[in-house]
Amino acid sequence: MKVSIYVPVLLAGVLFASNSQAANLYAGESMAEEVCSQCHGIKKPAEGSPFPSLAGRDVAYLRQALKDYRDKTRVSDIMNSIAGSLSDTDIKNVTAYYGKQKP
Ligand code: HEC
Repeated sequence: MKVSIYVPVLLAGVLFASNSQAANLYAGESMAEEVCSQCHGIKKPAEGSPFPSLAGRDVAYLRQALKDYRDKTRVSDIMNSIAGSLSDTDIKNVTAYYGKQKP
């Protein structure tokens, strides 16, 4: 029967689509290492630096903070310009990554 060959293909499509909804920790990690860690570090910011730590923080809080910086309801020259170039997906990935780090 011809229909049966479509089933696995359809299923794969569904699985792939639902998987892409989840945060991509690898993408989050490379963004954290390339961009954010310059100030925030990965586990913690450099000793004595003025930057807040992000590791192990509440993910919902971090996401909201970045969205607030992006739409400038929270003001910080540095973070407004960094968050301004982040997509929703970037925010989801990088916050999921930081939330999983042990401080
Ligand atoms: C050039 C330095 C710099 C870089 C790079 C940087 N930040 Fe920040 N970040 C800051 C500073 C300074 C603050 C504090 C701003 C304020 O007073 O609100 C901050 C604050 C934050 C906060 C709020 C923390 C809190 O406790 O409320 C989050 C979340 C954050 N940054 C995420 C990120 C992410 C994610 C990246 C990478 C995409 C990033 N930052 C890159 C300097 C930086």
